[in-house]
Amino acid sequence: MKTLTLDLSGIYATVPAEAVEAWREKSDQYQHQLHTATGLGNDFLGWINLPNEISDADCSAIEEAACDLQQRCDYVVSIGIGGSYLGARAVIEALTPSFEAYRREHSAPQVIFAGHNIGEDYLSELVDFLQDKRFGLINISKSGTTTEPAIAFRILKALLEKQVGREEARERIIAVTDKARGALRTLADKEGYKTFIIPDDIGGRFSVLTPVGLLPIAVAGFDIRELVRGAREMKALVDESVPFDQNPAALYAAARNSLYHVGKKIEILGNFHPRLHYIGEWWKQLYGESEGKDHKGIFNAAVDFSADLHSMGQWIQEGERNIFETIISIAEPNSELRIEQDEANLDGLNYLAGKRVDEVNKMAELGVRVAHIDGGVPNIRIVLPRLDAYYIGQLFYFFEKAVGISGYMLEVNPFNQPGVEAYKKNMFALLEKPGFEEETRAIKSRLQ
Ligand code: PA5
Repeated sequence: MKTLTLDLSGIYATVPAEAVEAWREKSDQYQHQLHTATGLGNDFLGWINLPNEISDADCSAIEEAACDLQQRCDYVVSIGIGGSYLGARAVIEALTPSFEAYRREHSAPQVIFAGHNIGEDYLSELVDFLQDKRFGLINISKSGTTTEPAIAFRILKALLEKQVGREEARERIIAVTDKARGALRTLADKEGYKTFIIPDDIGGRFSVLTPVGLLPIAVAGFDIRELVRGAREMKALVDESVPFDQNPAALYAAARNSLYHVGKKIEILGNFHPRLHYIGEWWKQLYGESEGKDHKGIFNAAVDFSADLHSMGQWIQEGERNIFETIISIAEPNSELRIEQDEANLDGLNYLAGKRVDEVNKMAELGVRVAHIDGGVPNIRIVLPRLDAYYIGQLFYFFEKAVGISGYMLEVNPFNQPGVEAYKKNMFALLEKPGFEEETRAIKSRLQ
């Protein structure tokens, strides 16, 4: 059985293997806390057993709803932000052929994302685009009260109702939200929308394997069962019963924390395949929101190589030595393309003739690894055998389990996000939202 593998050999010039090994006892203890729900944030651990709990009936219900939307729509707008957005986008971008959007014919509806920004141009261009299209909406919000998706939904719902009438609009709208609370739940119940529930004990950034992620992914035509199967396999491979030195999630957590303790405060997640860009965005949320608190935590950034080697590459090689990198490597690409011999050889590339493009990419990856390690940037490698739904499922669960252990190693609660409320309070005060009168007065007097 092929699986994701972890290679820590590129960090040992900075932290010895013994430093990683020194986390063994604590790692075992933190794993146990996660599995017995006895650590910080223990009411948000529903993601741990989730891969084993998703039933055949759960998948079928999602697939049926997706199939209905597929038949009614050519475009489906998935509305959500943060954890209610990034997982679906990461999978859809990773599995969609790069130029699919430019094709005239599509085998499944195109999934478009909205509600993750408040750009007036973005929303108004989306409204213009959808004017004459057959479209539907998936509105995703756990709290059901988040402003960005609520604005997008109000605008797009009005457009859809104007276009097809209220009755057909109802058939083309699905809400994914809390079972009982929030404005979206009230609205969905009142309008009679089909709904899927986000479990209480699963936070946004851990929700990709709930209908939050699975519904848009199924609508886009991808195999959610393979994604879940991959997560299930990984769950066994990083279980509490797997010894520390064979457990990739525990080792990744220990490596990150060892590096953090010697001043490596920034982790960049790099890839050599453009389709992985949004995996990096999803990872940034998972790690940034889980660990950045109590004035602690590794700062997460993501880079797309080799493009960013020609920009941030300079900083990574010779800037301040407070970073380490984690590279997601794909062992075997899905296609095969060779560089041809050219008689004139004006570009001087004949020395590469006959080689696969991936061989060049792999040598870029290796060259970067050696250069960065030489330059004082420790390198962690995560290798996926292929880029498909099954291995993305493995990758998701690996990162989720590792961040739980890693957050406990940092001695923070990895499952809350109190810091994201601060901007909302100010925004509501500035917009004079009812109930925020005191805050409005306070912020306005500060800004005078
Ligand atoms: O991880 C989180 O909890 C947040 O980033 C949320 O996902 C994000 O704020 C969206 O929240 P909601 O789903 O309640 O609209």
